[in-house]
Amino acid sequence: MKDIRYEIKTRTEKPVLPESLGFGQIFTDHIFEMDYTAEKGWHNHAIKPLANFNMHPATMFIHYGQAAFEGLKAFRQINDDIVIFRADKHFQRLNNSSKRLCMPDVDIPSTIDALKELVNIDRDWIPTKHGESLYIRPFIFGTDPVLGVKPSQGYKLVTMLSPVGAYYPEGFKPVKILVQDDYVRAVRKGLGECKTPGNYAASLLGAEIAKNEGYTQVLWLDAVTLKNIEEVGTMNIYIQFNDEVVTPQLTGGILPGITRMSVLQILKDWNYNVTERVVSVEELFDRHAKGEVLDVFGTGTAAVISSVGEMKFKDRKIFINDGTTGELARKLFAHLTGIHYGKIADEHNWLTRVPVEVTA
Ligand code: COI
Repeated sequence: MKDIRYEIKTRTEKPVLPESLGFGQIFTDHIFEMDYTAEKGWHNHAIKPLANFNMHPATMFIHYGQAAFEGLKAFRQINDDIVIFRADKHFQRLNNSSKRLCMPDVDIPSTIDALKELVNIDRDWIPTKHGESLYIRPFIFGTDPVLGVKPSQGYKLVTMLSPVGAYYPEGFKPVKILVQDDYVRAVRKGLGECKTPGNYAASLLGAEIAKNEGYTQVLWLDAVTLKNIEEVGTMNIYIQFNDEVVTPQLTGGILPGITRMSVLQILKDWNYNVTERVVSVEELFDRHAKGEVLDVFGTGTAAVISSVGEMKFKDRKIFINDGTTGELARKLFAHLTGIHYGKIADEHNWLTRVPVEVTA
């Protein structure tokens, strides 16, 4: 691993976490940071105290959005081991997002090593309760202080950590979703499959409209026909029909979720008939009317498995399992969190252990 410069804060007492953590409200003591230039590649690796950035107002990403991020989680297992879920897949996706946005990729093994160091240094911040975790947010952005649309020459990667509870205020209770066709989140061959700030910015107005109508989230449709189900923006979506479990196929407009990928694997392991295919909102609502929809749920790192209890599209409204949590969603949540917290064997080697010793 490249040499990391350590500037460690001294703390005399362990951090005290609030009873209810919420999501993304609290940050740990340290961040990991590194810089990129074409001449030096990635350099200036440092673990240092969390502090505000000092930035030129022309810094490129602020104006032209050249940035990408990830969201992954570390868990404190029942035997007190600390593990990170599917770190390799998250950094591969970061590199895919970076490629589409003309940004440099990172070396995955050494970036994971640096993350293990950071998580180990701030391990006292990792919550202990089932359902809580340490959310890890790596992000990369163009740093040149220049106006003009072109790729930045310099970049910074920062990883920060946040102890979190449930993403939605509902907790594990089913969420209510409004299907939106007045706006779209992303378009195929655009940036839809990248984890980049612009996709989240594009979702805000639709999400505000949904919130004002009493819905937690928006289900986005494909930008060309406005008929096919894509994703929720904060999570991918799964539908359990009576004969098949379906998740929309990755068209380029959908984020290739790591939890989506993990659930596909689990359902295959359980011998479910699971398919990735085009599924229209009409099929969902029509088959619901015939009693053929057994469950609808979202998958995401922040949300884990989130049951959907109610959906509205124009003047049609459906209730799934009478607005209660479905059986498959409950089973998947128990299985996935069982792996996270070390109650169920990690058969596919999805967990990276964070040793107590500093490995550098
Ligand atoms: C995640 O699931 O990690 C995301 O980045 C989505 C956001 C809702 C926090």
